[in-house]
Amino acid sequence: MLQASRGARLVTTHPHLMANYGRLEINIVRGNGCWLYDESGNSYLDLVAGIAVCALGHAHPRIARAVAEQAATLVHVSNLVHHEPAGTLADRLAELSGFDAVFFCNSGSEANEAAIKLARKHAWRGGERDRNVILAAKGSFHGRTMGALAATDNPAYHEGFEPLPRGFAHVAFNDVAALDAAIGPTTACFLVEPVQGESGVVPATREYLEAARRLCDERGALLIFDEVQCGMGRLGPLFAFEHFGVKPDAFTLAKSLANGLPIGALVVRGDAASSLKPGDHGTTFGGSPVPAAAALEHLKIRDVLDLEEHVRVAGALLRAELAAIATELDTVFEQPRGIGLMLGLPVREPHVAKDFVAHGLDHGVFLNAAGRNTLRFVPPLIISADEIRDAAQRLRATIAATLRG
Ligand SMILES: Cc1ncc(COP(=O)(O)O)c(C=O)c1O
Repeated sequence: MLQASRGARLVTTHPHLMANYGRLEINIVRGNGCWLYDESGNSYLDLVAGIAVCALGHAHPRIARAVAEQAATLVHVSNLVHHEPAGTLADRLAELSGFDAVFFCNSGSEANEAAIKLARKHAWRGGERDRNVILAAKGSFHGRTMGALAATDNPAYHEGFEPLPRGFAHVAFNDVAALDAAIGPTTACFLVEPVQGESGVVPATREYLEAARRLCDERGALLIFDEVQCGMGRLGPLFAFEHFGVKPDAFTLAKSLANGLPIGALVVRGDAASSLKPGDHGTTFGGSPVPAAAALEHLKIRDVLDLEEHVRVAGALLRAELAAIATELDTVFEQPRGIGLMLGLPVREPHVAKDFVAHGLDHGVFLNAAGRNTLRFVPPLIISADEIRDAAQRLRATIAATLRG
């Protein structure tokens, strides 16, 4: 059993859990709204939301009820038959996005695997057998399964896992000229995060995504957005593409779609939506009734809460608090970047973002480090103004303690 205490540090071992994570040494037993509680009853204001997952916070009573009711009705039946929760969720996502068809799976990586397969099959069905290159951006993160990993531009994640699948290429992010040179007759798709999350919260520019749309149209490649982290309202509008005003041919979702239950989705429009035929792709659990019911309830609750406007206001407040900290401590931090409630506070060397995370636990705030050296803020989207001000106080105390060493 872990000893719960303020002052937890990173640990990599636990008797029978594989040591593939550097976990924080706290044992979280309960969550409520934007708060987490450890086994000693210590509370933590959660600015991570399970890595941009629990958009409506923890233990939302309506999600809990939807899950319980669905679990008592039908947990699993496989994709051999139709079931209402997945069908209704697909209808709702199509209606909200204006797209045509949805494939459900269980995670962000799997959603991107499906996107990669769809892009290749789409070209293949169109008679373009050589159009098979998946072009992705430098600094990208698309997941840890082999295809998604090959699309991910992070040598540390590749090391020791080669050979990776062939037919992947990377082009500089936010560089229109480089993209112009890279998209060609063998490009099946350009797969891009509208806001790169894991590399430290780096938004694409609108001009870049507009150019991507134009170039893909001109040269017959699909434009696919990975909205696994930045979608589902994190930037304000439900879908990230709406924020940028650029419509991809397909986009992927996962993380917060079901507010914490495992689900992923590939949402496609136009000709590409019919590229996959029976038997082409599949998964046992994808879109199973309980996560689908949770996702449907999530979408209903969003409407009631007017989350789009709330994220705009709360995001501006959090950004202002972070900007004030960065201004006061400009030898430690750069100015924040990001959109809505997906914000990054870059840490200047020799300071180390992970050190602030560990100290944050002493001050009752749950933080996260991403990329080379950035504090990433992806709190529940329901976070209140008072909680944001409270978070800023806790962050200031955390920073002071970290800098004292
Ligand atoms: C943009 C993006 N794509 C894909 C993934 C992979 O999702 P999962 O961890 O659910 O496989 C992540 C996870 O962080 C992500 O941020």
